[in-house]
Amino acid sequence: MPHLELIDVSKAFNGVYAVTSMNLKVNEGEFVCLLGPSGCGKTTTLHMIAGFEAPTAGKVLLAGKDVTNFRPNQRGLGIVFQTYALFPHMTVAQNVSFGLEMRRVANAERERRVKKALDIVHLTEYKERYPRELSGGQKQRVALARALVIEPPVLLLDEPLSNLDAKLREVMQIELRRIQQQVGITTVMVTHDQAEALSISDRVMVMEKGKATQYDTPLKVYENPQSPFISTFVGKANMLRGAVLIEGGKYFACIAGMKLALDIDRYEGQRPGPGQEVILSLRPEKLCFAEPGLGIFDAQVKEKFFFGSQWHYTVTSPLGTLTVLQPNDGRQPNDVGDNISIGWGESSLRIVPNPENLDVVAAT
Ligand SMILES: Nc1ncnc2c1ncn2[C@@H]1O[C@H](COP(=O)(O)OP(=O)(O)OP(=O)(O)O)[C@@H](O)[C@H]1O
Ligand SMILES: [Mg+2]
Repeated sequence: MPHLELIDVSKAFNGVYAVTSMNLKVNEGEFVCLLGPSGCGKTTTLHMIAGFEAPTAGKVLLAGKDVTNFRPNQRGLGIVFQTYALFPHMTVAQNVSFGLEMRRVANAERERRVKKALDIVHLTEYKERYPRELSGGQKQRVALARALVIEPPVLLLDEPLSNLDAKLREVMQIELRRIQQQVGITTVMVTHDQAEALSISDRVMVMEKGKATQYDTPLKVYENPQSPFISTFVGKANMLRGAVLIEGGKYFACIAGMKLALDIDRYEGQRPGPGQEVILSLRPEKLCFAEPGLGIFDAQVKEKFFFGSQWHYTVTSPLGTLTVLQPNDGRQPNDVGDNISIGWGESSLRIVPNPENLDVVAAT
C-alpha cells in the first residue's frame, strides 16, 4: 500500500484547472520530486496534499486512509515553505520547539526532540541565535528542523532551496537527502530545477500544464523521456525529425538524406512502421568529435563556450545546428571554424514518443 496516494485529483480556480486528474503513489520512506515549469500546478498539488486547498475532484489517501476532507492540522504533515516563515522574535530552539508546544508535548520530551532535530540539521551550536543572525542555508535548516521535530508521517517541501546561491544549494541538496535517509521520512518536494530533481529523488513526477506526464526514476526520466517536452526540459537534447526505415529487421532513421542506426530496443512505445515520421533526440553529451571523415558525418564548429568541467559547442552539420558537450580533459579545445566530424555510440539516437503529435523541427 502506498504511504501517500492521490487518485484523480483535480483543482480548478474560478473554473480554470490548475491541476487535472493527478495520480501519484509515494511509498513509505520514498523521496519524490514534483518537477515542472512555473505555473504547471506543483504548489497547488502540494497544498492539496497538505490540506490547504480542497480538491475540486479526486481523493487524497494517507496510509490508505481517505483524508480528502481533513483540515491541515488533522493531517499533521511537516511543511517547509520557500520563504522559511521563521518567527523573527524567537531563537532557533524556540522556533523548532513551537510546533511541539502547540501540540502540548511535555517539557522533557520537547527538549529531547528539539535537541535531536537540531543535531540532525547540524545547528546545535546556533540554538540561541535569532533568525536575523543566520545565513540563508542555516535558516533553511531551521525550517527543516521545525518540520521534522513533529515527526510527521510525510514531509512536504516547496522549493526549499530556491533562495540559496548555487554553491550552497548544491551542499544543501546533499544535506537534505542525507537527512531524509537518516530519518527515513516519506518526502514530496517541489522544484522547477531538473538537476536538483534528478540528484535528490528516488522518483520524479514531471508535470506540464496541470498534468502529470511521466513518473519514473531519475535515470529513466533522463534516458527514456516520454515526450519531446520532457526530452528538453530534463537535460538538453538535439531534437530532430526523420522517417523510419526498416532493413533486415534493423531500424534506421532517415534524416537529411542520411541513414542513421536507431536504438529501437530502448523504445517503450508502439514500434513505428516503415516510412513513419518520428521525432528523435540526441543528447549533446553523447556526441563526440572525431577527425574529418572518421565520424558519422562532417561538421564545422560554429560557437564554443567554456563551462569549467565541460566545453559547450554548437556545430553546423547536415542535420542542422547541433549542440555538443565535451568534457574538459585539460587539452586545447577545438576552435570556431574547425572542420571536425561527429560520432556517437550506437544507442544514442532515440525515438521520442510524441503523445500530443507536436511539430518539432529545430535542434534545440
Ligand atoms: N488561489 C489561486 N487562485 C487562482 N488561480 C491560482 C491560485 N493558485 C494558483 N493558481 C493558478 O494555478 C496555476 C498553477 O499554480 P501553482 O502555484 O500550482 O504553480 P507552480 O507549478 O507551483 O508554479 P511556480 O513554479 O511558479 O511556483 C497557475 O496558473 C496559477 O496562476
Ligand atoms: Mg509553486
